[in-house]
Amino acid sequence: MAAKLMVGNWKMNGSLVANASLLSEVLAGMGGKTCRAAVCVPAPYLAQAQALLAGSALALGAQDVSAHEAGAYTGEVSADMLRDFAVRYCIVGHSERRQYHGESDVTVASKAQRALAAGITPIVCVGESLAERDAGQTEAVVKRQLAAVIHTNGHCISEIVVAYEPVWAIGTGLTATPEQAQHVHAVLRAQLQAATPHADRVSILYGGSMNAANAADLLARPDVDGGLIGGAALKASEFLTMLKAASR
Ligand code: 13P
Repeated sequence: MAAKLMVGNWKMNGSLVANASLLSEVLAGMGGKTCRAAVCVPAPYLAQAQALLAGSALALGAQDVSAHEAGAYTGEVSADMLRDFAVRYCIVGHSERRQYHGESDVTVASKAQRALAAGITPIVCVGESLAERDAGQTEAVVKRQLAAVIHTNGHCISEIVVAYEPVWAIGTGLTATPEQAQHVHAVLRAQLQAATPHADRVSILYGGSMNAANAADLLARPDVDGGLIGGAALKASEFLTMLKAASR
């Protein structure tokens, strides 16, 4: 398995001034870290982040991509446009997009396909709501979400990254226990194994209130290959502590 992958998802936060100071602090503290790392910034700041991250060990990511190639889709950003800014990763199917923008499993699969076609690694998010967990549907939900992406992208499924983000753990301070995370990650790994002989190449990240205090325990589990981090990625010292935990 490759080095752990730690990805900050800034969501709709930042400004030119705040981004410059956060990125300079993170870059200054990154020396010697051996994990892979990226930040997914809001689209208007891609050019700024591209310039600040050029030549560094911190990769650039986006938070969404259009399911369409080009044309009359007002407000959308295409995978080729992201590629113009040297974007390496793109989150697709985040629960906030599924919930607030009505993104279906099929839409998410198309977005992953667009990213892959542009040479961008999609970070495909899956995860159950609290009601679904309480109803014993966790495995069925995450498998259904991943199955759509496998169905559309089977030939290059080993090129994706998966992020397990239980919806009830996002921004709530509630974190899945390392055992809960490992259990779901193993389910997802088995599903990938059935689709490709290269399933071990797929990094499966955990996301949902991951922070400097709980990262090491989560990352110690065999199928937790990294993290997708929201709030804690907006604080340089906290993000750096997590990169350190992932570099052990
Ligand atoms: P928090 O780390 O703020 O819970 O957000 C997780 C997340 O949604 C990352 O994509």
